[in-house]
Amino acid sequence: MATTTQARSGAVLITGAAGGIGAATAHRLDASGFQVFAGVRRSSDGEKLQRDISARITPVLLDITDPVSVAQAVETVTRVIGNAGLVGLVNNAGIIVEGPVELVPIEEVRKQFEVNVIGHIAVTQAFLPLLRKTRGRIINVGAPTGLVSIPYLGVLSASKAALESVTDALRSELRPWGISVSIVEPAATQTEIFQKSAAAAQQAREQVPGELMQLYAPALAAVAKASASQSLENPDVVVAAIVQALTSRRPKTRYFAGRGLRMIAVLRLLPDRTRDGLLLRALGLANAQPIS
Ligand SMILES: NC(=O)c1ccc[n+]([C@@H]2O[C@H](COP(=O)([O-])OP(=O)(O)OC[C@H]3O[C@@H](n4cnc5c(N)ncnc54)[C@H](OP(=O)(O)O)[C@@H]3O)[C@@H](O)[C@H]2O)c1
Repeated sequence: MATTTQARSGAVLITGAAGGIGAATAHRLDASGFQVFAGVRRSSDGEKLQRDISARITPVLLDITDPVSVAQAVETVTRVIGNAGLVGLVNNAGIIVEGPVELVPIEEVRKQFEVNVIGHIAVTQAFLPLLRKTRGRIINVGAPTGLVSIPYLGVLSASKAALESVTDALRSELRPWGISVSIVEPAATQTEIFQKSAAAAQQAREQVPGELMQLYAPALAAVAKASASQSLENPDVVVAAIVQALTSRRPKTRYFAGRGLRMIAVLRLLPDRTRDGLLLRALGLANAQPIS
């Protein structure tokens, strides 16, 4: 185990804290006595956090895909905390690029990786000097899709799988400095991420030729029906796992947050075609016929 430090105060940076899991985490950590730096992309979102959650929260303008923004965020945080360092970095920002791999415009594929993978690496690199000062902790927010690739969410799954991989390597690489690295795998959770991704997919599909869209229409209808029927967790379930990773004496490497995730471990052990069949059945596509 990397460290036995049990921080319950000190400075923490959360990326993607404008809403959803990030804002809920900011709320909980602020209430617990941490000094919270909340990464937001618009100053109006920072003002909203201070107004609605706590005036103690320090918003930090941070687009994790923009190197200048990342460098400025380091300066902003350093200016406030001086030599004290960070006790935690929660790499939470994320987007979902949805749809069959064939239909996702390649710039959307790049965007998925820029936000869900490269942005987290950039932020981690930039803030490691501050984390090293306190033997701080890194908590990456992954997803079960990183452990089992879900059809029609293949691009998202690939990005989250890459984040799993980076997390595993960092855990060993940062051990010499006592910096623990955990990944939290939220079950489907009630946030705006799904509405945002549906709107982005709708827009992206305007670039896709109609005849190609037609080929996927039955599958997309089935997937939409299956996702509409999934039950969603409260973000507090994920927040509890993030807090555990940040504060427990012996942080786990991986936290599953929400119901139904034991299935993931089972699915990973199954032969590929058996797993494919189960996933297609769950999406209502078990009996789909070949399209010519
Ligand atoms: N909700 C779920 O069911 C679920 C399940 C598994 C994993 N997760 C993961 O949980 C994390 C939080 O998601 P959420 O559900 O809370 O969704 P959310 O409410 O949409 O929050 C995502 C946050 O990421 C921010 N973000 C997007 N692109 C960014 C960028 N380039 N730079 C900085 N911030 C950026 C968003 O900011 P803007 O508001 O400015 O766009 C937003 O604040 C994500 O990593 C997601 O993959 C969620």
